[in-house]
Amino acid sequence: MKISKICCIGAGYVGGPTMAVIAQKCPHIQVTVVDINQARIDGWNDENLENLPVYEPGLDAIVAEARGRNLFFSTDVNKAIKEAEMIFISVNTPTKTYGEGRGQAADLKWIELCARQIAAAAESDKIVVEKSTLPVRTAEAVKDILDNTGHGNKFQILSNPEFLAEGTAVEDLLAPDRVLVGGEMSPEGREAMQALVDIYAHWVPRERILTTNVWSSELSKLTANAFLAQRVSSINSISELCERTEADVSEVGRAIGADSRIGPKFLQASVGFGGSCFQKDILNLVYICRRFGLIEVADYWEQVIKMNDHQKARFAKNIISHLYNTVSGKKIAMLGWAFKKDTNDTRESAAIYVADHLLRENAKLCIYDPKVSKEQILNDLNYLNTRTPEENEAMVEIVTDPYQACKDSHAIAVLTEWDEFKDYNWDIIYSSMLQPAQLFDGRNFLDHDKLQEIGFRTFTIGKII
Ligand code: NAD
Ligand code: UGA
Repeated sequence: MKISKICCIGAGYVGGPTMAVIAQKCPHIQVTVVDINQARIDGWNDENLENLPVYEPGLDAIVAEARGRNLFFSTDVNKAIKEAEMIFISVNTPTKTYGEGRGQAADLKWIELCARQIAAAAESDKIVVEKSTLPVRTAEAVKDILDNTGHGNKFQILSNPEFLAEGTAVEDLLAPDRVLVGGEMSPEGREAMQALVDIYAHWVPRERILTTNVWSSELSKLTANAFLAQRVSSINSISELCERTEADVSEVGRAIGADSRIGPKFLQASVGFGGSCFQKDILNLVYICRRFGLIEVADYWEQVIKMNDHQKARFAKNIISHLYNTVSGKKIAMLGWAFKKDTNDTRESAAIYVADHLLRENAKLCIYDPKVSKEQILNDLNYLNTRTPEENEAMVEIVTDPYQACKDSHAIAVLTEWDEFKDYNWDIIYSSMLQPAQLFDGRNFLDHDKLQEIGFRTFTIGKII
């Protein structure tokens, strides 16, 4: 089966970049990305590529090449469904905030809405591809809806989870470690899988395109994120022990990472992992295990989240204790708000929780992030509901100049590893601060020797300096 028209429902961090790369690599396929969010679609269609709704290095060039040729962004969901032979579902699947499974289970209401809309709008047979991260066995529910609410058309459901990381989305999409395609093991299922494999084969070596049954594919995505997050929590747990024993977590990471069975990646101790997915996907895994009565398995994975919460709180408490146990009324500069560098995404960023902790102690925060807007920072704080929006606005200043953020502050907390932070004139910053000037590097990446030479009292994760 040759696919000539694709539609993707959901123009977010996954739908946008993924479809842009498919369109770039497959000029003969018409790719339409649809969303109910008009502002997002307007952003994707904006002539000024700086206004794309997702910031990813290299994405603007790919969009510029394919947009208007075979890549389109629209809010007309039904039209795109009707025209496409293959429909990706790439909508959000956040943690449920209400009812059964609140705080753990994935909220699948947007997935169900998509399935119902596809069934209602489709006028021919379709291949429906789960791109969103979903609990294992979701394809069963999607198929049930499609088969029972449509007009007699046939649907094949594939699972094709996305493994890109934000900040490196384009690199990851252009040269993925693997692409995973799960499908039904029937002749029709295999044909559908082949159609999707053929699309990726335009740029991904065949041996990197793995095919499995649907359930393995769905579960592999949750498992991959759980393993990755577990590595971060593992090294972070060791970072605390390093701080008590004069071991250096970077040295420990290097030493264990040299073992090819362990490998060097994802051993960077930090203020805690953030991002939209690690926490949500592990919570979802925990929820699924509990539902199956697998209490020990659930408890095992839950510990990864507990360790992460501990790491964020520990960082904030450390700041307070070094500021003589009170930050009340003190200006603290926060450099970085995004959950990692090279993205404007702030979902579950450690910075949000550190800020909230400091604000509970009546600190006055001055925040700078090179890619995150003032509005977004305030939204993130307001979403916690710890205090009123007016109170947040009164206690938090958000600036576009890092030097202004640091001026007259008692301490600087570095929350994101933005490259530009390394190149600041730290002499100027030091002399503009209240003394003793303290700096807390939550990413363990600045030049601490140099900072100490300037006069800073510096503290970092997993190392006594
Ligand atoms: P996102 O919130 O950035 O984008 C989702 C989009 O779907 C939104 O723009 C929303 O308006 C749209 N949408 C929701 N319901 C819709 C509907 N019925 N019709 C049309 N549009 C609809 O989310 P994201 O970060 O792109 O994540 C999407 C999925 O991919 C999630 O399941 C996530 O777990 C998974 N994932 C995310 C990443 C990542 O790096 N962000 C990586 C791998 C997998
Ligand atoms: C992660 C996975 O890496 C992707 O494979 C996956 O597709 C994605 O989640 C998803 O499902 O959403 P992402 O969250 O974008 O990608 O970014 P990561 O690079 O994994 O970083 C996650 C968090 O862990 C960040 O806050 C980062 O700073 C932190 N981290 C990462 C560390 O603290 N130490 C490390 O060594 C690595």
